[in-house]
Amino acid sequence: MQHSCSLAPVTVTEKVLSGPCDNSPWRVGQTGQGSGFGKVILFNEHFVVHGVPGIVSAIDSTAHAYAEARKTGDGITVRDERKGAEGYTEQKKLQQQDSLGRMLKAMGLSREEVSLEIRLGGTLPGFSGIGASAASSVAIARAVAEELKLDLSDEKINDVAYEAEKAYAGTPSGIDNTAATYGGLIWFKKALGGGANTIERLSVTEPVEIVIGNTGTVADTKAMVAGVAARKKTNPAQYDRLCQQAEGLAIKARRALEDFDLRQVGELMNENHSQLKEIHVSSKELDYLVDLAREHGAFGAKLTGGGGGGCVVALTPGKTLQEDVAAAIEREGFQALRTKIGRRKSEEKPVPAEGRKKIGF
Ligand code: MEV
Repeated sequence: MQHSCSLAPVTVTEKVLSGPCDNSPWRVGQTGQGSGFGKVILFNEHFVVHGVPGIVSAIDSTAHAYAEARKTGDGITVRDERKGAEGYTEQKKLQQQDSLGRMLKAMGLSREEVSLEIRLGGTLPGFSGIGASAASSVAIARAVAEELKLDLSDEKINDVAYEAEKAYAGTPSGIDNTAATYGGLIWFKKALGGGANTIERLSVTEPVEIVIGNTGTVADTKAMVAGVAARKKTNPAQYDRLCQQAEGLAIKARRALEDFDLRQVGELMNENHSQLKEIHVSSKELDYLVDLAREHGAFGAKLTGGGGGGCVVALTPGKTLQEDVAAAIEREGFQALRTKIGRRKSEEKPVPAEGRKKIGF
């Protein structure tokens, strides 16, 4: 694929419609379309940026995009119709423009070649922390590729979405775009020295109910990631110790998930939340929702994603516990999403050979 440095102008319009665009009156079948999975990080957000392994699970909500080529040379226009938290679309608009430019460049497209209208919707709400940006990048990249008949592998889509993630996270680890591309439950380790990241598929006995609680605060992942990097630089010994602890915790968590020891998984989530507090990425609201979920019987709870706002994830096996915790969160005036981690293999995309290490699928 050729690379050109000239970018198409990108316009992101106001949210014009509500509801997923899966019911779109567009000429479905004649426009390119694509989806990307939402996600929850179960272990080690932020630490993954620094080469510590993390565990992420896709959730059953997706971003969905339609892309239609136009004859006029107007660059790319995005109609963002995602159901979102108050202000999410508005606050992410500039980063979304930046991400689209980066995405086009990574796809080797130039301004002269591109005139597209994109509609973005799907069932994944625009909450901070559940991979809305990565899921939308994967969905858009797939839709554009289909519309322009670029035969892009999932590996390439993942790479394109990683480039797009730089607009939202500054120096992303790659964990979000990987989950958005492939789905399922994934062990992820960034290759800090370059080369392929470690991406291993994990499986659990059966999908497990979780609750995602939203503080309602839109968080700036880029600022949070940069803050951790700055503190790590100032306090290298403390952060090296924390990274080592986080690595040990991820190894135990992987074993507990594979043994389906959900009590142990929950305890490790609690421990991970304490570590995340120590690197200053939690907030009063996040701590409040974590405590609330635990008081109502969650096996464990922690912040998920970039922190500083956004969401918590609570492990709530069984419909009854899930409902108890979700209802408690809603009674306090917060939004709750009821979903599951560890989807079935048949619902996942294969993980690329070059990202695999050691254990197979
Ligand atoms: C954001 O969902 C997760 C972070 O660890 C950033 C990243 O890994 O790219 C905060």
